[in-house]
Amino acid sequence: MHDFSTHNIIVTGGCGFIGSNFVRYVVREHPGVHVTVLDKLTYAGNPENIAGLPEDRVELVVGDICDVALLERLVPGHDAIVHYAAESHNDNSIADAELFFRTNVEGTFQLLEAARRHAVRFHHVSTDEVYGDLALDDPTRFTEEAPYRPSSPYSSTKAASDMLVRAWHRTYGVAATISNCSNNYGPYQHVEKFIPRQITSILTGARPKLYGDGRNVRDWIHAEDHSSAVWEILTRGRIGETYLIGADGERSNIDVLRAILERMERDADDFDLVHDRPGHDRRYAVDATKLRHELGWEPAHADFFEGLDTTIAWYRAHEDWWLLAKEAAEARYTAAELGGSRNQMRAPDEGRCE
Ligand code: NAD
Ligand code: TYD
Repeated sequence: MHDFSTHNIIVTGGCGFIGSNFVRYVVREHPGVHVTVLDKLTYAGNPENIAGLPEDRVELVVGDICDVALLERLVPGHDAIVHYAAESHNDNSIADAELFFRTNVEGTFQLLEAARRHAVRFHHVSTDEVYGDLALDDPTRFTEEAPYRPSSPYSSTKAASDMLVRAWHRTYGVAATISNCSNNYGPYQHVEKFIPRQITSILTGARPKLYGDGRNVRDWIHAEDHSSAVWEILTRGRIGETYLIGADGERSNIDVLRAILERMERDADDFDLVHDRPGHDRRYAVDATKLRHELGWEPAHADFFEGLDTTIAWYRAHEDWWLLAKEAAEARYTAAELGGSRNQMRAPDEGRCE
């Protein structure tokens, strides 16, 4: 048991989608905790995501997790590092993997070394994508014992970072835990990702783009539920253990898109099928029994469609937050298209959704 109720924690990537949700969650739910956010403010990091939080509770340090000198100054005096910072988008990793290797692998290495030197607790935030994918008709789900089978440059670098954490725990005794979570959704998610991309495309008068046949399945969890799970693991998880985080939210992409279209009063077929993502994982599904039984964690946002409604409402109300990022993200997608890929519409004879 680790009591961080009155302590100082570093949250890397705390200006991103999920990291900033965790910072807001900690400030709201755990009044004794001070958070130092370490964030490089890449295209995905936005200080607005933590704006308005009390200055005596949250400090933003703009910097790179690969910067050893900065870590040497920052880490002493803190009790824990909660490590969210990453390059996080599969499509970007396919276009150019180098930064993924640097931030996700080298960055995690440098943080682990700092945690080792200063005997600081380390929680590593990872993804279910390290387990590869499942067939649509596979009756099983991922568990903590599933073999690592990453498919993409993104998931392979996350898998590598998980391996480093395991080794640093076993070899050097770093007090580490790992969580592997399923697909998150909710406010503040970058518009390059599936759900916000479709919502903001509709809001800007563009047609949503569905990869491949649209039948790929993702296991959705609200970011708030991810945050509460990470807090439980950080404070009550067993050192050296891995916990899967998921909320039984399996849905096909086409079902999610049709739910968005319906809620935004568009025709059910008002989207384009486009070329598939190379190496596109078919299905993710998480069995979070260990987390539920051992730590008593339960998701608060059990109703996906309710969560989707509030997410759509948030993007409707926050165009100032996303409009510039939307233009930049769509420009990146168009540049990838020139490389011959996913924004291009499929010809009618290339297959249809069933
Ligand atoms: P995000 O892309 O929205 O945010 C990443 C943040 O990390 C940004 O604020 C960025 O500025 C920062 N960052 C990037 N490189 C950095 C560096 N070198 N030094 C310091 N800061 C840096 O990502 P997200 O969707 O919030 O994901 C956060 C974490 O959760 C990632 O580790 C990701 O692998 C993991 N995860 C994400 C999901 C999901 O559905 N998005 C699911 C499971 C796990
Ligand atoms: P994404 O949000 O990129 O998350 P991940 O790749 O980590 O699962 O994509 C979720 C799913 O949506 C994935 O199967 C790819 C698909 N997708 C589309 O069909 N169209 C899009 O425009 C995007 C961005 C994703």
